[in-house]
Amino acid sequence: MPPKVFHGAIVHSISLGELEIAENATLVVNVSGEIVAFKKSENQEIVVPEDAEIHQLAHGEFLIPGFVDTHNHAPQWPMRGLGQALHILEWLDQVTFPVEARFADAAYARKTYENTVSDFLRQGITTASYYSSRHAEATRILAEICLEKGQRAFVGKCNMDRNAPEYICEQSAADSLRETEECVAHIRRLPGCDNPKHALVKPVLTPRFAICCTPDLLRGLGDMMKADDDLAMQTHFNEAEQEIKATRELFPELAAKSEADLYESYDLMGPRSILAHCTIMTDYDKERVKALSCGVAHCPIANMTVGGGFMVAPVRDFLRRGIKVGLGTDSGGGWASQMLSVIRQAMIASNAREVMSQGQDKGLSLEEVFYLATLGGANVMCLEDQIGNFGVGKQFDASWVSTTSGLDSAMTPREDGDSLRIMFEKYIMSGDDRNISHVFVRGRRVAGTRQ
Ligand code: GUN
Ligand code: FE
Repeated sequence: MPPKVFHGAIVHSISLGELEIAENATLVVNVSGEIVAFKKSENQEIVVPEDAEIHQLAHGEFLIPGFVDTHNHAPQWPMRGLGQALHILEWLDQVTFPVEARFADAAYARKTYENTVSDFLRQGITTASYYSSRHAEATRILAEICLEKGQRAFVGKCNMDRNAPEYICEQSAADSLRETEECVAHIRRLPGCDNPKHALVKPVLTPRFAICCTPDLLRGLGDMMKADDDLAMQTHFNEAEQEIKATRELFPELAAKSEADLYESYDLMGPRSILAHCTIMTDYDKERVKALSCGVAHCPIANMTVGGGFMVAPVRDFLRRGIKVGLGTDSGGGWASQMLSVIRQAMIASNAREVMSQGQDKGLSLEEVFYLATLGGANVMCLEDQIGNFGVGKQFDASWVSTTSGLDSAMTPREDGDSLRIMFEKYIMSGDDRNISHVFVRGRRVAGTRQ
């Protein structure tokens, strides 16, 4: 891969409320896909390699960082949107488990995951934290496909050794742990994935949620996490009333006050923990999540559709407290593989929260939701030194957005005289994958509408 140079407009987040818009920028990406120079103004000097491939963005086009999807069930991609109005435990039993059970078939898993990963890449999701099903072989296949197609990913074999139908439940905690260890080792043996600092695809521990895991299983996973500084963990946390109630019944002492205490007692709460949903949160829950430096995967589409209720996570309060927050499609739990849909729903959910809190929790701005979808997600996955914006030294994960790519686009055609800020806002609020000409991960082109 030759070095690449991009001339044109660039939009990215510097911090939660701060968007940087550079109209005439130059980005230099080296052979390893690393950003080695970012020129923002005419009088800045940079070195452009002689053998570089030059890319000129046209008027109405701009680069944004790739989206980071912090919570995504890959095997649920074929069932997005199904089972609306069911409560979470019935939804798992009636809709989700039968779909995930199909991934016992490796050929089916391969075909489906090829489509799944391609679909998310096409939507500009350059990084995803995936739950696979409980099947070890399908999990290994998912990791291999992410690597082949060039998507940055965490891939986790789902652990579930109780409270699931016989046809999908794991036989024992010991089996589940052994297969998890094998999957972790397999992923780390994939080409280029042996060094955790540089791996494109990494393993992640994935206890489905405490309801589906025996104490022995949670203990074993906690031990694995404690023993390995590079291993992340993801689970569902305080998602719905029904789930919280069932968790308390299963762990009357440990979860009496908070699910945070329960997971903490198994050493599963720390800076590498990604907690999905976090919709029903007491002050104590929030304090613990902050104190233990866990990240929140906010899934506003899933929270307001499937699962039983209209749940609105207190994102403004999380941000006020300095809790790390990113966005998640949730795939099956929601209905979208588009991060743009999640961004919009995050705004709507935050407006609902503003009303519910009598104005105390202000709705999220465009700058803020875009941050959550990029740099915020990178923070949640502890990848902020590698991705999330176009800082020099980071990897070039990006979407090349074209606001002029045709009237068939769902986006309102750009009018003459729109500022770059307006073009960006229109894309975020009304654009879609047809506006993504190219998607890059680590400098490699991995998707896009143009050749
Ligand atoms: N809780 C346990 N499993 C799941 C799942 O697959 N999706 C959602 N949204 N919640 C869960
Ligand atoms: Fe989920």
